Amino acid sequence: MVNVIILILAAYLIGSIPSGLWVGKIFYKKDIREHGSGNLGGTNSFRVLGKKAGLVVTILDILKGTAATLLPLVPFFADTTIHPLLLGAIAVVGHMFPIFAGFRGGKAVATSGGVLLGYAWPLFLLLIVAFFLALKVTKIVSLSSMIISVIAVIYSIIYMIVTGDIALLILILILTVFIFYRHRANLKRIKEGTEPKVKWI
Ligand code: G3P
Repeated sequence: MVNVIILILAAYLIGSIPSGLWVGKIFYKKDIREHGSGNLGGTNSFRVLGKKAGLVVTILDILKGTAATLLPLVPFFADTTIHPLLLGAIAVVGHMFPIFAGFRGGKAVATSGGVLLGYAWPLFLLLIVAFFLALKVTKIVSLSSMIISVIAVIYSIIYMIVTGDIALLILILILTVFIFYRHRANLKRIKEGTEPKVKWI
């Protein structure tokens, strides 16, 4: 039981690491939450701090989800009573509501991707390809993020039918609710036609 509590706490703290805030403040003297979309994530880091910082923040945010999902494999934490996907979901909660950044965090996309990288890497790779295809067509990062969460739902339904494993579907449904909920402002801007578009793809 103590192990489970430690694992849950560790997953939340890993997810809470505010990569975008720290990279922005330490290397650029900027709080990215006061610029661009105000989101504490990779996309806004690209927008406000530039390509290098955006890439670093995105990778760090992905790795938070992966690290939390793989935690039960660490000998010190070893526990089989808690599902790794639950730890991944807890890390995503930490990413959205980080204790180290006044509970104002990101929109769940990169860290959710990291959970999939740790648990179902073929799906992660599929979603990366789907994301860039969606981005090529729509030019809107937030819309592409939501499109790939729907693709993940479809994939995990098929996965459940084929393997009988329902855990991935449950996780993906939870993450998809998180992602759509955190993109409320983006959805409004998309409807109004004011959501920023990227030019580089
Ligand atoms: O991952 C977040 C992305 O989908 C949208 O970010 O900054 O454009 O709201 P942003």
